[in-house]
Amino acid sequence: MIRSVVRGTGAALPRRIMKNADFEGMVETSDEWIAQRTGIRQRHIAADDETTASLGEAAARAALADAGLTPDDIDLIVLATSTPNNTFPATAVEIQNRLGMHHGFAFDMQAVCSGFVYAVTTADLYIRGGLARRVLVIGSETFSRILDWNDRSTCVLFGDGAGALVVEAGEGAGTIADRGVLAASLRSDGAHKDKLFVDGGPSTTGTVGHLRMEGREVFKHAVGMITDVIEATFSAAGIAADDLDWFVPHQANKRIIDASAKKLGIAEQKVVVTVNLHGNTSAASVPLALSVAVADGRIKKGDLVLLEAMGGGFTWGAVLVRW
Ligand code: ACO
Repeated sequence: MIRSVVRGTGAALPRRIMKNADFEGMVETSDEWIAQRTGIRQRHIAADDETTASLGEAAARAALADAGLTPDDIDLIVLATSTPNNTFPATAVEIQNRLGMHHGFAFDMQAVCSGFVYAVTTADLYIRGGLARRVLVIGSETFSRILDWNDRSTCVLFGDGAGALVVEAGEGAGTIADRGVLAASLRSDGAHKDKLFVDGGPSTTGTVGHLRMEGREVFKHAVGMITDVIEATFSAAGIAADDLDWFVPHQANKRIIDASAKKLGIAEQKVVVTVNLHGNTSAASVPLALSVAVADGRIKKGDLVLLEAMGGGFTWGAVLVRW
């Protein structure tokens, strides 16, 4: 059977690093509060010339170089983002053009922080359905542009960045020993919209708007939702937590990551954590974390890797991949 196998990873971060202490003169907060409640120590913030498209392009180029491929080898780009360069056209199409790619097709996918997990699942379906052989799956965000910089309860949490994977069709035997995407479980429930949303949009206010979040409410739902989709993914693949080599969760809050891993019985040393370095980069958080753990040699060919995310909507999901 056809499997969607990861061939390359890449990442891109804005040049500017903003430390927790840099907020101290802007809003009433402290390095200690931010680090204790979230695990975040710093985040990257985009300059005017750094956009979702430019960061996405840079991450895509890095993933292509890692795969030993060129844009000519790609036939689909799926970009997960909630902070596109323009309302339309899709930023994926802009990235396609920046890469000098004038064949194939590209589109954006909007599932907020779960965007990358949705995008990997979508790429897998296009590959297995025969509509694409090689897909660039990108998560790129500039959340700094939609933050209310006077709201201490949200502005300290997010950062900008991009990560990408090249995924290609490969042959598998249909067992969990195969390399590639093995199982996935996706969910959404719009009843939770008011807990995490942006208060603007083309069809309502005609403005971009700012991110609004009831953090405590999101926190309350997060661990249960995350562990539910992971258990569904384990059961679809016929595996248990012990079989995993690496857990690469959405990087929103270290306390949510720790509580989820503990509830699932995933050992601490198997959990990839980058929230301290990047903050919450929404759809970019999982591919950024992946690129760090691949680059430092933790994630290796043949490893069983679980990706997970939860975000606005609510949306949530998990994907199991043999690297
Ligand atoms: N500095 C200092 N104090 C602060 C700050 C800050 N930056 N922000 C809030 N506080 C205050 C609050 O005002 C509150 O004060 P009060 O008790 O006087 O009212 C106090 O700290 C405690 O606030 P809580 O909201 O209860 O703090 P909590 O421990 O819940 O931590 C946090 C807040 C970090 C936001 C947490 O709720 C959280 O991580 N929630 C989940 C967020 C998340 O995971 N989002 C993921 C999806 S994101 C996406 O999809 C785009």
